[in-house]
Amino acid sequence: MQQITYQIKERGGKIELPETLGFGKLFTDHVFEMDYDQGKGWHNPVIKPMENLSLHPATMFIHYGQAIFEGLKAYRTANNEVQLFRPDQHFKRMNNSAKRLCMPEIDVEFALEALKELINIERDWIPAKQGESLYIRPFMIGTDEFLGVNPSKSYKFIIILSPVGAYYPEGFKPIKILIQDDYVRAVRKGIGECKTPANYAASLKAGEEAMKKGYTQVLWLDGVQQKYIEEVGTMNIFIKFKDEVVTPKLNGSILPGITRKSVIQLLKEWDYPINEREITIDEVIEKYDAGELEGVFGSGTAAVISSVGWLTFKEKNMTINKGEPGDLAIKLFDEITSIQYGLKNDTHDWIVQVEKKEVGVS
Ligand code: COI
Repeated sequence: MQQITYQIKERGGKIELPETLGFGKLFTDHVFEMDYDQGKGWHNPVIKPMENLSLHPATMFIHYGQAIFEGLKAYRTANNEVQLFRPDQHFKRMNNSAKRLCMPEIDVEFALEALKELINIERDWIPAKQGESLYIRPFMIGTDEFLGVNPSKSYKFIIILSPVGAYYPEGFKPIKILIQDDYVRAVRKGIGECKTPANYAASLKAGEEAMKKGYTQVLWLDGVQQKYIEEVGTMNIFIKFKDEVVTPKLNGSILPGITRKSVIQLLKEWDYPINEREITIDEVIEKYDAGELEGVFGSGTAAVISSVGWLTFKEKNMTINKGEPGDLAIKLFDEITSIQYGLKNDTHDWIVQVEKKEVGVS
């Protein structure tokens, strides 16, 4: 395994976190970074003080979008231990995104070691309150200085950290969702299943318009016929019908969420009839009209589980479970967050501890 170089800055005092953290506004003071060059592979891994990137204006990812990222979290337990939720899955997913965008893969084991080292150094930034955590944002960018359209031959992989609270200002309160067919987020055989900025850029306009109309987010329909439901906001979607729980099956345009995967596993263990299948918007409306739509919720790293209280499609307004969080959404939220915060035993091998140790200097 490669040797990480440490450039640790002296902290002048204790870290004071604000009372309310919000999401993604505050950053810790060190980052992990390494470089890639064709022929040389990944090299120069370093943990160093956070500083602005200095980039040539022709840096390729700015122009042609060769960029990928991940989002995962570290939690402080009641015993003051620090633990990660399924970090290996996130780095593996990052490698799948990398393959699709002609970017180099990372060594999952090394990335995990580097992340643990960084988190150990930034331990004091991890909030202690339930509902708060340290959001981890690994990302990779193509760094050739060149305006021709082809894969970059050099890259940077960086991990930044951000102490966060709730993703949605509503917290766990049900959100209001607009289903709309004016815009699509992604198409099959495109890059919808990759965590890449382009998918988020494609979602902004619809999100803005929905917000102006008083909705929190958008429910995305498929990119070809706008007939099948795919994702909700930046999350995967689950629907509880009277006799089954369903989630859209992964088809190439849907992000394979790590929380989605965990939810499916839990539902199977709890003997819920859970089906990954195609779900049309017509079916959702029909089941609603028949009184068979019992709950809708989103799953994602940032919000974990987020109940949907209201769905609107054209003239059709649907109130789900009287606008209250559904029992299943609550049960899943409690189970997953209890595991994440160490309140429940991890029987799934989802948790990775970050041992406390003296900071190495090389
Ligand atoms: C998530 O829900 O975990 C996300 O991907 C949101 C993130 C892009 C801020």
